[in-house]
Order: sequence, then C-alpha cells, then structure tokens
Amino acid sequence: MARVSMERHSQRLVTAFIASGMLFMLLPGTFLGVWNLIGISQQRTLNSLSAAWLQAHGQAQIYGWVGSFILGIGFYSLTKMQSTLSFPVCAAWTSWTLWTLGIAMRWTGGVTGWQWRILLPLSGVLQLIACLLFYRSVRRHRPADPAHHPPRREAWMVIVIAATIAFLVAVTVNFFAMTHLALYGTSPALPHVFDQQLVVLAVWGVLVPTIWGFNARWLPVFAGFKKPDGIRLLVAYGLIVASVVAVFLQWLPIAAVLFLLAALLAIDALHVWQPAVQPAKLLHVHKTFPFFIRVAYVWLVVSCALDALAVRNDHAGGIWGASRHALTVGFIAGMVFAIGQRVLPAFCGMRILWSTRLMFWSLLLLHVGCALRVTLEPLAYESYWMFAWKLLPYSAFVELTAVVLFAINIIGTLLHPPAHLRP
Ligand code: HEM
Repeated sequence: MARVSMERHSQRLVTAFIASGMLFMLLPGTFLGVWNLIGISQQRTLNSLSAAWLQAHGQAQIYGWVGSFILGIGFYSLTKMQSTLSFPVCAAWTSWTLWTLGIAMRWTGGVTGWQWRILLPLSGVLQLIACLLFYRSVRRHRPADPAHHPPRREAWMVIVIAATIAFLVAVTVNFFAMTHLALYGTSPALPHVFDQQLVVLAVWGVLVPTIWGFNARWLPVFAGFKKPDGIRLLVAYGLIVASVVAVFLQWLPIAAVLFLLAALLAIDALHVWQPAVQPAKLLHVHKTFPFFIRVAYVWLVVSCALDALAVRNDHAGGIWGASRHALTVGFIAGMVFAIGQRVLPAFCGMRILWSTRLMFWSLLLLHVGCALRVTLEPLAYESYWMFAWKLLPYSAFVELTAVVLFAINIIGTLLHPPAHLRP
C-alpha cells in the first residue's frame, strides 16, 4: 500500500515538473524566441535586440523547459530505485516550487526590467536550493536490491552522475553571476562573452551528456541499437569536458575541434547510424521514432561543423547562431520530442501517448523548421543573401507549430485516464 502511495506521489511530482516545463517552453521560451527572431528580421541585425531578452529566452528554454524535465525525471527515477519507502516528498515538492518560482523570476526580471537587481539574485538562490535538494536526495538514494547491484558503474550511469554534478556547478555559477550583475551591472543582461560561456556550460556540460547517458541506457531497447561501447562513450564525455574548459579559456579553435571529435565518437559508441540489431519497441509511438533519433544526431554534427566554421568566418553572429540553433533545437529539442513522447506517458501515471500522428508531425515540423533556420540564418545575418531576411520568420512559425503540437500531445495524454483505468 505504501509502495503504491509512493508511486502516486512520484507520478504527481513528475507531472508537475513536466507541466511547468512545458509552460516555460511555450510562453517564455518559444513565443519569446519567435518574437525575438521577428524583431531581428525586421531590423536586419542581431544587435537591434535587447541582450536581456535573448538571455531570458535562452534561460527559459534551457533551465525552464529542459532543466524542469531533467529534475522531474530525476526525482521520478529515485522512486524506481529506492529500497526504503521514503520518497523525499517534502524535498521534491519544495524543489519544484523553488525551481519554478526561480525560473519565473529570472524571466520576469530579464524581460520587464522590474526590480531586476532583487529578482535576478533571488532567482539564482531559489534555483540553487532547488538543485541542492535534488542533489541531496540523489546522494541519500540506496539501490533497491544491493545484492544485485552491479560491481562497477556502467558508462551511462557515470555520465548521468557527472552531468548531475555539472548541473549543480552551472546553477551555482549562475547564482554568483546574477549576484554580481545585481551589484555592479547596468542592465539585467550578462556581458556577451561570459553569457556565451555559461550557455556552453549548460548545453554541453549538462544537456548533451544527460542525453548521451540516457540514450546509452534506453536506445538498445527502444530503437534496437547495438549495446553502446562504454569506454568510447566515456572518452567522448572526457572530450566534452576538455572542450568546455577550452571555451572558458577562450581557446575557441581547440574547443571546436574537440566538440566535433566528441560528437563523432559518441555517435560511434552509441551505434546510432548503424543498422539496428533487434526490432525497435514501437508500441504506442510512431514507427519513425528510430529515424528521428538518427536525425537528431545529424544536427549534432552539423552544429559542431558550423561551430568550427564560425571560429574564422563569423562576422555578425549568423554562423554561431545557426550552430547553436542546430544544437538546441535540432539535437536537444529533437531528442526531447522523440524520447519524451516515448517515456513521459508511462512516467506520468502509466498512460498511453494520445496521438502517434501528432508525434510524427511535431517531429517533422521541428526538423523542417530547424533546417530552414540553420540554412537561412548565416545567409541573412552575414549578408550573403538579403532575401533570406524575409524567409527567416517562417522558420520560427514552423518551429512554433511543432512546439504547440508537442504540447497538445502531452496535454492530451495527461488528460486521458491511465491505460489500466480505461474501459
Ligand atoms: C523553437 C523556436 C525557437 C526560436 C524561434 C528561437 C529563436 C532564438 C533567437 C532569435 C535567438 C537569438 C540569437 C540568434 O539570432 O541566433 C535565440 C537564442 C538562443 N536560443 Fe533559441 N529559439 C528557439 C528554440 C530554442 C530552444 C528549444 C532552445 C534550447 C533548448 C533555445 C536556446 C537558445 C539559447 C541558449 C540562445 C542564446 C541565448 C543567449 O545568448 O544567452 N532556443 N533563439
């Protein structure tokens, strides 16, 4: 009985994290992103837009959306492995409340400028406490059956744990940065170079390794891929760490080469582009699921190649921007759309995905929109083809439609009764 109640608690909690994450994805994240792109396209320069607005959009997407999903799934995973009946109910709900408030404050302070000297550091401290509560719960976790615990940690576990520590590091650095900004800054925007370094820390230090870790764990089952090569995956992770350090030291050419090597090695280690060795488990998801997983990795390589190109050839932010978009939308959002629609229905109360067709269309439109944006952004921003400015906003509308379809599908799933309660 206690086990059932613990399971219900964790399902409600993960649902809360997913719901708030999707809200941040839709409104402060994507709508602001679309608005920003329309503004940039009208003025025909990236410099026309407030840096605080750009940063607010990035924060809402990285921490508000994907960060909320990571915390929710992280807490949920603890119940699946807990030996005692002690799901950290209080810590988990406090973490959700503080995290959600912190993200909302960061966005409000950045976009409206209202009381930003108070809101920004306050948001930083709330996010940090929320993250510490999660971290403490993980440290207290004991395996369900210590007798069957593997003698050595598998590569995917090592990478997920390292990414969890990097999450804490990123949120801590963010807190100090917000405090410094509030004391000495003149606007709610971080200096450009430091902001870009923080984006790299969050994206490459936290999100990409988390995806690789869970891909290593799940894709052999979900997509039928050959079991990952743990050593190669760990080397790829080591290259990421070296690249992030290189970015902070401003050795950008070295970082670009290391990112590309890391991506290629991870693709090889995960056997993403090799034929599957067993049938994929496609019940209740669209049959194109393995295809879209492979496409996401194409974006990872495109992003790294553009990054390397940008080091010497970027003059107006167009090639950097395209590289970042290929990574955040093509790889990260593409992966969250595919894996999320595969696992979230079960995590949120043993439900079934509402519509496999919506899943397909959300993924297809996301990748079409991303392809448009990544092609057009360098052409427009770098003044290679001025007509591209007129086409760029369409990429944002296509991506917006994809995001809305994804949200409708998850909301539809949550509104329908769980599979075992259906007539
Ligand atoms: C879905 C539609 C999206 C649109 C229309 C959009 C639009 C934009 C625009 C116009 C910029 C300004 C820089 C540039 O011109 O390249 C930007 C920056 C950024 N975006 Fe997006 N974006 C979207 C999705 C995402 C997603 C899903 C993520 C992350 C998961 C993301 C993360 C970022 C980050 C980190 C920045 C840099 C912020 C900074 O400089 O601090 N975006 N985006």
